[in-house]
Parts: sequence; C-alpha cells; structure tokens
Amino acid sequence: MSGKQPDAGPPPIQLWTRDGFQGALSAVTRATYAPEYLSVQGPHAPRRAVLERLTPDDRDDPGALPTTVATSRQGVKLHVSARRKPMPYVVRNVEADEVHFIQSGTVKFETDVGCLTASEGDFVSIPRAIAYRYAPTGDGMRSVIVESPAALKLAPPLPSGLLNTARDLKFAEIDPNMPLGGPTQLVLKTFDAENTVFTLPHDPLALGVCLSDSVPVWKLNLASIQVHAYLPEGGPPSQFLASTTGDLLMFNLSARPGGRPPVHINADFDEVICYVRGPGAWGGCTEPGTLTCVPKGVIHHGPSEDVPEGYQAWLLETRATLRWTPKALAIAELMETGQYLPHPSVGK
Ligand SMILES: [Fe+2]
Repeated sequence: MSGKQPDAGPPPIQLWTRDGFQGALSAVTRATYAPEYLSVQGPHAPRRAVLERLTPDDRDDPGALPTTVATSRQGVKLHVSARRKPMPYVVRNVEADEVHFIQSGTVKFETDVGCLTASEGDFVSIPRAIAYRYAPTGDGMRSVIVESPAALKLAPPLPSGLLNTARDLKFAEIDPNMPLGGPTQLVLKTFDAENTVFTLPHDPLALGVCLSDSVPVWKLNLASIQVHAYLPEGGPPSQFLASTTGDLLMFNLSARPGGRPPVHINADFDEVICYVRGPGAWGGCTEPGTLTCVPKGVIHHGPSEDVPEGYQAWLLETRATLRWTPKALAIAELMETGQYLPHPSVGK
C-alpha cells in the first residue's frame, strides 16, 4: 500500500469536520492507517483522471458543447473543452454561473459585456445569463469548466492580501469594431436534455460602449492567488471564490510550506483537486491536468503540499454530491487516498 502508517511518533490523528474546517470538529487517534481500503463497489468512491486521456466532443466537432465529466442533483457540474476551432454559435447558460479554468492554450472569449483573452492558468468568470463564445488563438486549448447554480463571487478571507485585485483582476472590454455579423445561433443551456436555440439576425456580441461601473466577466491567474500557510504545523487553505450560498468554494492548492494535511473525513464537501502542472509532483499526481475527487465522508490523507520544487493545483469543494459521467469513468481510475495514486487494485 502506498500511504504507510508513519513509522515513529504518536499514533496519527483522524479528524472529522463539518462545514469544511469552519464547523464542528472531532479528533481521535487510531493505530491503523485509516485511508487504506482493500476494494470498493458502487459510485461513491475516490477516483482520479488524467484529462488528456479524454477527447472532448468539441475537439473534432466545432458544433459540439464541452463534454460533461461530473454531475450532481444540485446542478453543480464539471465539463472539459478542447476546441481547435472557434465556436460557431453563442451560448448563454441560464441556470448556472460558470468558471472556465484554462489548462493549456490561449483562448479569446467574446461575451455580452466585452472580450478578454485568457492564457494558461487563468480562471475566467462568466456569470449566469451572460452569452459568450470562445476560440483558441493557436492550434488548440484545454479547459475545465465549473458550473454552479448559486452565484459565484470572489471571497478572499480578511485581512486582505490573498488577492491583489487592482493588479491581477482583468475585466472584459468591449471591442467597438466587432462586425454586426449575419444570422447567429444563440444556444440557451438549461437542465433539459435538449438545448433551446434562437436564430438571431445579427451577432448579439457586437456591442457599442460600456455604461456601467462594473463588468461581471473577469479573469484571474492561479499563480497570482497567494497561498495561506500555518507554520510550522500546517492548516487548511483559504478560499478565493465562493458561491453566495456557501455550498461551493474554490482554493489555490499549489505548493505551500507546512505540515501534511491530517487524515480527514470531510462531512459536508466533495473535494475535487486539479493538479495543473509541476515542476514538482504533488504526491501521486505528476501529469498536468490530473483531476482527483474524494467524495464527502470518504477518509483521506492527501499528499504533502510542502514541495520545494513547486507545483500548481486548485481545489473545488462542493456540498453537491458529484457523480462522474460514463465518458469520464472510461478514463478514470480508482484512487487510494494517501498519496492520490491509482489504487493498488487497479490493473489487477
Ligand atoms: Fe480534505
């Protein structure tokens, strides 16, 4: 088994926490290594997937939407996109806010409130009912899209310092020279299996000027979000983004000093981590674009985040109970929850 019981010292602590690390907490010791399991049957199991092994529908079919990799009863979803050609239509998600994380490539977004060009490591926020289309500026791109029915907002902790919004938050800007265009399809994304498609006489994203103070579409690079550490023992990371309901949180989980996380049962949140890139490995995660998911209530330890070579990763915590889709399951593997390697039973 990869994650071993530490050799010396007192027995390790096993935590159970409510509301992430904000609520009730219990700590016990046990002599055996809690994350170990011999086998598992059923859907509520920890899994990992190297997203490069998935070919999203929109890679070869410009008319396709991104491919869904996880869904939930609450409407929180994850998708992946790998366009090589521009979207030939405009889409407006009328039921959820979206955050697009650019894993690779450079992507031009055109939206109802202006345009921006996003690069590797950028989060792009597109709130509910803002129409948009995007296109790679080079040969291709890859992104992970988080969909949240509850509105998402930057929510760094006080005192300020996690984000330098004046320097690092970049807002969409209107291009007044965008052609008015001819007939354009507008796809409304809803919970229905079938999308609703309007055919408009002109390009709806051709705009004049911005009259408001605020612009709801922005980008922020993962590398510009500070990490928060408790020294020398370590402690939980701090969110930079949250839903207004508090049921979806996002964190920079890149390398940081401090001790390894405790063996932990997260009572309320599924934990999705995207290992973006090295140079350093984060435990068992070495391939860029590796997505790991530990469902709520499943005991896990997790690799040390104190990696001197550095790596980039982000964490999504959601009260929604996520389920991988068949397309994602086809490239996913069962995961052990010590170092987040494939479970020893994989390939047997
Ligand atoms: Fe955890």
